[in-house]
Amino acid sequence: MSEQIHDLLIKGGTCLLPHPSDQSLIEQQADIAISDGRITKIRDSINEPAKRVIDAKGLHVLPGIIDSQVHFREPGLTHKEDLESGTRAAVLGGVTSIFEMPNTNPATTTEELFQDKLNRAKGRAHCNYAFFVGASHDNITEIARLEKMPHCSGVKIFMGSSTGNLLVEDDESLEKILAQGSRRVIVHSEDEMRLRERKHIAVDQADVHYHPVWRDVETAVNSTTRLLRLARKTGRPIHVLHVSTGEEMDILRDAKDIATVEVLPQHLTLYAPDCYDRLGTFAQQNPPIREKRHLDRIWKALLDGTVDVIGSDHAPHTREEKEKPYPSSPSGVPGVQTLVPIMLNHVHDGRLTLHKFVELVTTNPCRVFKVKNKGRLRQGFDADITIVDLKKQKTIQNSWIASKCGWTPFDGMKVTGWPTHTIVGGHVVMENDQVIAPSLGQPVNFEDTL
Ligand code: DOR
Repeated sequence: MSEQIHDLLIKGGTCLLPHPSDQSLIEQQADIAISDGRITKIRDSINEPAKRVIDAKGLHVLPGIIDSQVHFREPGLTHKEDLESGTRAAVLGGVTSIFEMPNTNPATTTEELFQDKLNRAKGRAHCNYAFFVGASHDNITEIARLEKMPHCSGVKIFMGSSTGNLLVEDDESLEKILAQGSRRVIVHSEDEMRLRERKHIAVDQADVHYHPVWRDVETAVNSTTRLLRLARKTGRPIHVLHVSTGEEMDILRDAKDIATVEVLPQHLTLYAPDCYDRLGTFAQQNPPIREKRHLDRIWKALLDGTVDVIGSDHAPHTREEKEKPYPSSPSGVPGVQTLVPIMLNHVHDGRLTLHKFVELVTTNPCRVFKVKNKGRLRQGFDADITIVDLKKQKTIQNSWIASKCGWTPFDGMKVTGWPTHTIVGGHVVMENDQVIAPSLGQPVNFEDTL
């Protein structure tokens, strides 16, 4: 019998493997063999032929990183980003799968528009992809059917208006949506009525320092309190996106039965007023970056288990758009490419362990969204792998950013920890900060879709 030749062998790396008897991770030196897009063998040592061998000595081998909140702007806003450029940025940053948001133009609110996104991604995406469907007043009765479409990561609700025109602001409509279907619904939680009442603050002050004053703590807390009440009433699990206040964390800590929680690297790294002094409207996003007391409480919630997932909320806008006077300047900052380096730097600084980081961007998003066959380095699982060098020191620079926007709020930041290889479906697609393969990303599958 002829000896099998593996497609790829990753040798000598420190791997984060699933614990054999519980949900935790163990760190162990091991070799990983890959063929036909799957992990075929994990052993202390594999000395068998392979078409390509990666020497991972001194490096850490992680399950492929999933960014479960990105805005890639196609269709309609492709001067900011498209599915090719956004996924290119993803793999340069060590991300192997993205879940993309529905606030494109037109918004992704029907089966046809959802299929159009899948068609557009085919053969153009550098990493794996899934898309959210947007809830609107016009598709409420369709939600249960739409969320079941293959490769749909779920339904998104904007309770407060942000970029685009998606909005479901009233409790009656929200309850109807939550009462339909069964998958976890993701929510941008800001209270639209309060935003409208207080918009004059932003207009009158015309200063981005007032962004977190206009979109204040109460705006977020009111919305999340209403949302939790409706989720409990309907029994519908929810995922609260980009939680930005310590006060919401105190509420969500006691709501783990019904709510999972996402936080962003921005809210763990930047704070007011410093970010607005330095970056002006380039730090403007919704929900806003707030004072340091919130950053500290978000970290506390991350460490005590209140937080389930880190996503980037990659939301590119061009420099020209961001340079408009506040509040005409759009909200949102790019982040898919910087998520891994920023968070590895926090690991280096001792703010969280590597295990915790890996859970927040691999096992947990797979649990929350019921992703099939990903999120662990396990025989038979998809060969999506991120290799990182925890000691590598680099300075994040605008010139490295592949997003069409061409800037990052982290420009000039020195970090320790960097992705060295991104492996998507068994193909090495990024190495030494270069994309070295054609667009090989595939649609992501879920356990609870058709
Ligand atoms: O700041 C934001 N920008 N928050 C959002 O919720 C949307 C995003 C965007 O799409 O620009």
